Amino acid sequence: MILTPCAMAEQSTDERRAFLMVITAGLGAITAALAIIPGLGFLASPLRRAGGGAGGNPLRVAGERDVKPGKPLRVTAVGARDDAWLRLEKVTLGSAWLVRAVEDGPIKAFSTVCPHLGCGVDFDEKTGKFNCPCHTSAFDLDGRCLGGPSPRGLDELETHVEGRDVLIRYQRFRVGTAKREPLG
Ligand code: FES
Repeated sequence: MILTPCAMAEQSTDERRAFLMVITAGLGAITAALAIIPGLGFLASPLRRAGGGAGGNPLRVAGERDVKPGKPLRVTAVGARDDAWLRLEKVTLGSAWLVRAVEDGPIKAFSTVCPHLGCGVDFDEKTGKFNCPCHTSAFDLDGRCLGGPSPRGLDELETHVEGRDVLIRYQRFRVGTAKREPLG
């Protein structure tokens, strides 16, 4: 087929138009990707950090001499916590009972959170047991469950004595399950 000069000019215009459309679409896709990728990274950042907070750094909670035999000492763990996109310093993470069964014996730490439904566990000096006021679960000085609906004993926390200081690694656990499952 022989094309007239006008037909040739029209074909050339159509090719240019198609070429420009392809270029425009490509630039649009690249621009959209550049806008979305950093946003996805921003949204995902708390998810990436979620696993890092579990049982963070050991925290000083008491002096070693403050823990008397047979007299559990309630302490508060204060430390840093990653909350969504923020790092919060000096936050109360939770409480623990420090227990020394015998004179100069090792010190153990138990979370004060009842493994049944999460109420705070108290210590009864008269009976020498830990009691949960919500549904009457009871625990001995070693954290073992003595009665009530709690599905497991008290949750023990990692404890170190460094010099004169008692340090614990505070950790939360899932409540209502027989298996001890760390959270966060
Ligand atoms: S929450 Fe402690 S016994 Fe139910």
